[in-house]
Amino acid sequence: MDERILHDIAELVRQESRLSFAGHKRAVLKSRLDKRLDTLGMADLAGYRELLRCSGEEVAVLLDQLTTNETYFFRNPHQFRYLREVIMPALEAAQGGAMMLAWGGGEKRPSPDKMRLRVLCAGCATGEEPYSIAMTFLEGLRYPKAWDIEILAGDLSSSCLRTAMAGAYETEKLKGIPLSWLAKYTQGSAAGAVFNEEVKRLIRFIPLNLKDIMEGAGFPDMAPGFAGFDLIFCRNVMIYFAADSQQQLVDTLPRWLLPGGYLFTGDAEPLHLFAHDLRVIHAADCFIYQKTETEQDEQHSQ
Ligand SMILES: C[S@@+](CC[C@H](N)C(=O)[O-])C[C@H]1O[C@@H](n2cnc3c(N)ncnc32)[C@H](O)[C@@H]1O
Repeated sequence: MDERILHDIAELVRQESRLSFAGHKRAVLKSRLDKRLDTLGMADLAGYRELLRCSGEEVAVLLDQLTTNETYFFRNPHQFRYLREVIMPALEAAQGGAMMLAWGGGEKRPSPDKMRLRVLCAGCATGEEPYSIAMTFLEGLRYPKAWDIEILAGDLSSSCLRTAMAGAYETEKLKGIPLSWLAKYTQGSAAGAVFNEEVKRLIRFIPLNLKDIMEGAGFPDMAPGFAGFDLIFCRNVMIYFAADSQQQLVDTLPRWLLPGGYLFTGDAEPLHLFAHDLRVIHAADCFIYQKTETEQDEQHSQ
């Protein structure tokens, strides 16, 4: 009986988030459900299935508890090195040596003339990834003030997003950040450190369910004429999806990339098992994917 109910709940979870609890992962679902039922003081799994069927709020709470949120600063450092040493100089060259020279000469330019950098960080968990990206830009771009940068960082888990928005981390978690960067971009707090505004203002945190994006939804509050992202980080997210949803995500994300834009996936998520038209960059110990300039994908305009 419980197996049937577990199956129904796993199916509901898959439909609502694409998270897969098939096969050996069923035991994880069971133990996380047990915890939730304990909290609610419910003994009856069938009753909980009914609650899920009629309460979107309960579905959201359960999804939050079913997510795996492990993350850390500068995870997969090879990718960050490639970003800084290859991609950022290429973006600077492509988006206007002339404008940078003007800034270098001290000329003040109104913000519409700034070079634009749009980054998506999908499945940002507690924020270590977008803060790592933001610090890399501030350190690696020759004239960061000449750029209008937005890192759109979203996650399914609302509890993770709250932590991410606060930008406060315990000392233990800050280990991956060079000390000189910590001094520059954070302020000490009782338990650790909190990111300062220079970093925070580059990031816009949003609730995000990739299932909605895969089903054709757009991203909230993008500027008029938004045509796509320069970079998409979607790392260590699709490993939690079943193969068909993974392929659908691999089909969807490049449509949101500008021609020439880059997709970063997790260490355990090389795309060679999937159909795609991206250029594969094998750099140091990692893979990065680039949308070719000529690809005729439909561009998004919001
Ligand atoms: C293991 S963490 C990875 C965090 C970070 N990207 C990294 O690589 O360190 C996976 C994150 O993906 C999020 N996630 C899972 N399914 C999602 C979905 N359908 N939409 C958005 N985020 C999702 C989880 O909530 C979790 O925070």
